[in-house]
Amino acid sequence: MRFGGLTAVRSVDFTVNAGEIVGLIGPNGAGKTTFFNCLTGLYVPTEGTVSYQGTVLPPKPHLVTKAGIARTFQNIRLFANMTVLENVLVGRHTRTKEGLWSALLRGPGFKRAEKASEERAMELLEFIGLAHKRDHLARNLPYGEQRKLEIARALASEPGLLLLDEPTAGMNPQETRATEELVFAIRDKGIAVLVIEHDMRFIFNLCDRVAVLVQGEKLVEGTSDVVQADERVVAAYLGEPFEPTPEDTQPAAEAESTTSTKGEAQ
Ligand SMILES: Nc1ncnc2c1ncn2[C@@H]1O[C@H](COP(=O)(O)OP(=O)(O)O)[C@@H](O)[C@H]1O
Ligand SMILES: [Mg+2]
Repeated sequence: MRFGGLTAVRSVDFTVNAGEIVGLIGPNGAGKTTFFNCLTGLYVPTEGTVSYQGTVLPPKPHLVTKAGIARTFQNIRLFANMTVLENVLVGRHTRTKEGLWSALLRGPGFKRAEKASEERAMELLEFIGLAHKRDHLARNLPYGEQRKLEIARALASEPGLLLLDEPTAGMNPQETRATEELVFAIRDKGIAVLVIEHDMRFIFNLCDRVAVLVQGEKLVEGTSDVVQADERVVAAYLGEPFEPTPEDTQPAAEAESTTSTKGEAQ
């Protein structure tokens, strides 16, 4: 992906398999979000293609969503003046025959699909733990809950692959742990996850595989152990080796005092 003279992402060849949680890490400006934008059709790659389940995807966001890839954004993009439930319903528009405008305008076609869609949306809100706030306006949710709501909205399109761009940015250690559990639960539903994050403890606890982007190029890719031990990664990005602490193996409820390796600026 080139922007004028700047090559933001260069020859990154990358696969996510069904059932996997894969991490994408790298310094600020490495090209991680640009890579997501290429995958999801927000940017049209200067060269290269994106395939999903063996089919090359057209670089159009709604077609990518329809094919089965959903995402969240580094800077939260909710409909601030809509309710929690309405935000999730909007996420369902690629899966309902009636489409977005009918859903928003409450047309006659919408009435028929409304009940089933609402049931599914409530299921998802229960799954992420926000069912009790269904009628709250999105803008009134605390930050951590807004991030969760974005995940619910992404799940509403029934994806096979979920892309998360810095899902724990701005979260406290407890919320980060809860998000870790949430990602495992999403994977257990059969959804593959590709996650960008600066929090190394989060990434190395969570991911089956990690790829490191530096200046738009893939420096290393491998299991958490391999990536953590790679001298080039340590030099280019981590600064110091990541040492797992005993808390890392404890469940979220017992880990309240854990301090987390906070990321750099967003
Ligand atoms: N739309 C754009 N136009 C021009 N440059 C861009 C655009 N989007 C991203 N870039 C540049 O691409 C590089 C990678 O940015 P980004 O993908 O946001 O990095 P990361 O998410 O890894 O922090 C940066 O130098 C950024 O300024
Ligand atoms: Mg980014």
